[in-house]
Amino acid sequence: MSAAPRTGAVPVVVVGAGGMGRAWMGVVLASAEARLVGVADVVPGAAEAAVTALVEDEGRRAGIAVGTDGVEVARAAGAEAIIDVTIPEAHHPVTAAALGAGLPVLGEKPCAATLAEAVSLAGHAEASGRLFMVSQSRRNNPHLHEARRLAEQLGGAGIVDTRFFKAPHFGGFRDAMRHPLIVDMAIHAFDAARVIVDGAPVAVRAISHSPSWSWYDGDAAATVHITYSTGAVHAFTGSWCSPGQETSWNGDWRISCAGGTVTWDGETPPRAVTAEGAVLEGAVPAEDARWELDASLAAFCAALRGGPVPDGEVHGNVWTQAIVEAAVRSADEDRTVTLAEVLDEALTAARALPGPEGVLDALSRWEDGAAGLHAG
Ligand SMILES: NC(=O)c1ccc[n+]([C@@H]2O[C@H](COP(=O)([O-])OP(=O)(O)OC[C@H]3O[C@@H](n4cnc5c(N)ncnc54)[C@H](O)[C@@H]3O)[C@@H](O)[C@H]2O)c1
Repeated sequence: MSAAPRTGAVPVVVVGAGGMGRAWMGVVLASAEARLVGVADVVPGAAEAAVTALVEDEGRRAGIAVGTDGVEVARAAGAEAIIDVTIPEAHHPVTAAALGAGLPVLGEKPCAATLAEAVSLAGHAEASGRLFMVSQSRRNNPHLHEARRLAEQLGGAGIVDTRFFKAPHFGGFRDAMRHPLIVDMAIHAFDAARVIVDGAPVAVRAISHSPSWSWYDGDAAATVHITYSTGAVHAFTGSWCSPGQETSWNGDWRISCAGGTVTWDGETPPRAVTAEGAVLEGAVPAEDARWELDASLAAFCAALRGGPVPDGEVHGNVWTQAIVEAAVRSADEDRTVTLAEVLDEALTAARALPGPEGVLDALSRWEDGAAGLHAG
């Protein structure tokens, strides 16, 4: 018989006190469902600095443990879970160590630095019996879910078209990436489309390029077609170096259904026009609607308190990372890449990664890459 879920706010440690880690600290500090009991960052002094910057009240500050190792801080603070907001390369070691120590994890996207590590983390979650949820925050947008509801009313999404055109000058790591748009940004649109489209992604065809005026080293523009098991198609076209008439950060969406079309600008409620010309205005989100990081945290804490498994649970999220990996390979090799290909390779590589025996046992039970994710 499994133990009854604990009650009350979930005591959590935020691991990684960089830009996004500080955003997460703010969300936890404002939450009724979670309580910030610790912060860890591998850089000595970074966790202390973040706590000093964000927590004004001295008494409250004293109740927050700090250190350089997530599991050690969690133990010292009596935490029940960690939020992994480290750099992608650290997601696998940090999350695997926490799960192995019996701590559920809410992790920032991407699930891990590689698809093989993401599959491995699904194995760690199975072996530990602990929840590992990936926060892909842009899917927590009430307008997006309203767009899905409207599409359902019109018979379901058959063609989903996303246009994303912006011109940010970030500087830093994105400027040096080989596929900055696909890997760092389009991942959100690929994931959001999975909210709208039924079925599993099956194959990806991508073309990426570098406009002559681009200030990125890698390909800042791409067109990606994703076909689904239901026959639906998601077509994404985007650029990170297109000034003028920029789209929203969520992109600009058109969803074609048998009974009409839904459009969404990524910022305001979607609207639909039926085949007969009737206009259906999407509902304005309720005042108490949960958005982005706050919604991820709420779903994670609810699950730890006996609620449903959240849709960001690792097995569900790995599909999004598999689309990214297939898109990069398709663009590099100029061919259609199936999800089965990248997932089977990732499973083989994940089984070869060092880790506790239970993880290999868990991954050995996966018939193939996709079957393991369906079963999760
Ligand atoms: N959802 C979104 O819209 C969004 C936006 C930005 C970043 N992100 C994601 O958030 C994560 C963090 O991004 P960021 O911009 O905050 O990066 P960052 O480089 O500003 O911060 C990362 C921090 O993690 C720390 N760190 C690295 N390895 C560690 C380890 N083993 N243990 C503890 N701390 C460690 C670093 O010292 C650094 O302080 C990334 O996965 C990124 O993709 C998501």
